[in-house]
Amino acid sequence: MQEKINKHINDVSKLSISNKEEYTSFKNMYLSKNGILNDLFSQFKTLSNVEKKQIGKRLNELKKIAFDKIKTLDLSDKKTTKRDYLDLTMPAIYEGLGAEHPISKVQDRIIEIFNKVGFVISDGPEIEDDWHNFSALNMPEHHPARDMQDTFFISLNPDTLLRTHTSSVQIRYMEKNPPPIRIISPGRVYRKEDISARAHCIFHQIEGLYIDQDVNFADLKKMIMYFVHNLFGQDVKIRFRPSFFPFTEPSAEVDIYWGLNSETDYRITKGTGWLEIMGCGMVDPNVLENVNIDTKKFSGFAFGMGIERITMLLHQVDDLRLFYENDIRFLKQFKQMH
Ligand code: PHE
Repeated sequence: MQEKINKHINDVSKLSISNKEEYTSFKNMYLSKNGILNDLFSQFKTLSNVEKKQIGKRLNELKKIAFDKIKTLDLSDKKTTKRDYLDLTMPAIYEGLGAEHPISKVQDRIIEIFNKVGFVISDGPEIEDDWHNFSALNMPEHHPARDMQDTFFISLNPDTLLRTHTSSVQIRYMEKNPPPIRIISPGRVYRKEDISARAHCIFHQIEGLYIDQDVNFADLKKMIMYFVHNLFGQDVKIRFRPSFFPFTEPSAEVDIYWGLNSETDYRITKGTGWLEIMGCGMVDPNVLENVNIDTKKFSGFAFGMGIERITMLLHQVDDLRLFYENDIRFLKQFKQMH
């Protein structure tokens, strides 16, 4: 028996247990009810007192070695390390509050101004089809005005594209809702432009649409003046310049007088002192017919502007790219502004 125990002591100390299978088989072999240890202890009971004295010490040694073997094992899948403990009494690290992006702020300001006179927001998809971005807006296939839109086609199918303006939302809205209509559509638009201080391939627009009975150019003019005065202040000088858009007739562009006091003023106004801020016009009857609105009864106006451009003017930002780089030192400057 003495020999047997010595052999087991030897075996167990050499044994290495590295996974759950080995652990279970060791336990079954040595520590279970019918395992080696119990077996030896039963035999032990039958020994004479003298033998018990000799063997008892060794047997207890084996027992200790066997239990020690599994005591220090950790075979659970997840290793528990110190870092897993969370000290809930520790004071928090203050990271500082985030702030709204200047583009979002200006967009909200513009929305608020139009909300006050009854315009509601209407949304649409950024991935558009030909009909909503072009054809329905009086730009049939091969129309030269399509060229100016620098479109991103995003599949081999020319019917899938990234919208080049939010006018597409107006078509979607008119298809589903009868006049009277008073909506504004803010959103991201895409154009294949080289990125520079004045242009980006992605920017934000906000466009408006007003359709009702007896709407005329004077209504449009009044609405734009109301808007510009609210955003830029009552004293700002405005002018309407004749222009062309396929979906409006007549069309105009709106300029505000920026001034010619510094070299920068000369540069950004190209020496005129005036800055264009938006396009607008009376919705072309062809567009209304495309969405089955009765042109004998209804007419309307539309306008659209780039939010980046307006933000640059309001906050004297001279490089459009700053809006997308998200440099915290730039963004911080807008934190307190409304
Ligand atoms: N959709 C035009 C653009 O992207 C802006 C516009 C909207 C002009 C509505 C007139 C009327 O440039």
